[in-house]
Amino acid sequence: MANLNELGGVFTFPGTGTTINRMGYGAMQLAGPQVFGPPQDRDEAIAVVRQAVESGVNHIDTADFYGPHVVNQILREALYPYPAGLTLVTKVGAKRGPNAEWIQSHSRELLVKSVEDNLRNLGMDALDVVNLRGSGLMTPDGSSMVEGMEVLAELQQQGKIRHIGLSNVSPEQFRAARKVAPVVCVQNFYNLANRTDDAFIDELAAEGLAYVPFFPLGGFSPLQSGTLNNVAAEVGATPMQVALAWLLQRSPNMLLIPGTSTRSHLRENLAAANIQLSQEVLEKLNGVAKDAKRTELHEEIASGN
Ligand SMILES: NC(=O)c1ccc[n+]([C@@H]2O[C@H](COP(=O)([O-])OP(=O)(O)OC[C@H]3O[C@@H](n4cnc5c(N)ncnc54)[C@H](OP(=O)(O)O)[C@@H]3O)[C@@H](O)[C@H]2O)c1
Repeated sequence: MANLNELGGVFTFPGTGTTINRMGYGAMQLAGPQVFGPPQDRDEAIAVVRQAVESGVNHIDTADFYGPHVVNQILREALYPYPAGLTLVTKVGAKRGPNAEWIQSHSRELLVKSVEDNLRNLGMDALDVVNLRGSGLMTPDGSSMVEGMEVLAELQQQGKIRHIGLSNVSPEQFRAARKVAPVVCVQNFYNLANRTDDAFIDELAAEGLAYVPFFPLGGFSPLQSGTLNNVAAEVGATPMQVALAWLLQRSPNMLLIPGTSTRSHLRENLAAANIQLSQEVLEKLNGVAKDAKRTELHEEIASGN
């Protein structure tokens, strides 16, 4: 196992004995195109997962709707019996249609079935952390999380879930949901160019809750920025490494789960935890979000919206 500090230091989920390295791995890229069906290279997918754990990663993000089932089955094949100290975080609140559609629902039936599917496909008796994912594709639609939380709280009492998290939620949804049961983490869309959650991250940090950005590298449209490229050249790293190093330095409650289907990108991403960015560089990088906002505004004006 690698030196813990090489993976960004550690974080303990509040009210739990679960401590993980801040640099983790997101498994979504291990499914086929559109996160549907098997990957083109299943052997490489298994090798990526094994290499992540051999490199010290002990936090892997997944969902049974990736594939569906495919990604969880790859994780099980690659890692079972799971090493001590590994935390698998999954999410519920959606399923896939026959044509790869994302069907979002918090019905009791779907949530119970999803937890059972995760347990079966991962080969676990209890899931470490289950995130209840709010509706909306990349930004929360604001609908109530309370009924879904009540179902997850029951499953937690039955011993099928150890800890509960939330995903794709606004601060208001989070505050209402946590009244039902303790929440240990929030997983939302955030990166160098999309900083909608800045105040929310600080609110969660003040309470010791984890914030886990999805699409840390831009997701389906990887981050592109002249400033990012210039900084990367200046510090002798790749732009993706700088984007990850910036996130680690953004807040101590930030846990990273960059996704990749290749061992070479995995190595590159994990090495980002060793990059220390100076205050001057951080300030330059803070300008990327402002530039992205200006571009959006220009696009809106140009399209007449
Ligand atoms: N809660 C939610 O709603 C939600 C939504 C989306 C994702 N997630 C979770 O968040 C995790 C991370 O998100 P993500 O994988 O969608 O997006 P991401 O980490 O922002 O980016 C992944 C993309 O970047 C590429 N990439 C990775 N490392 C790279 C590198 N060093 N250089 C160049 N390209 C690189 C990957 O391609 P290669 O495969 O070629 O490396 C892939 O196309 C997922 O795995 C999933 O677990 C959650």
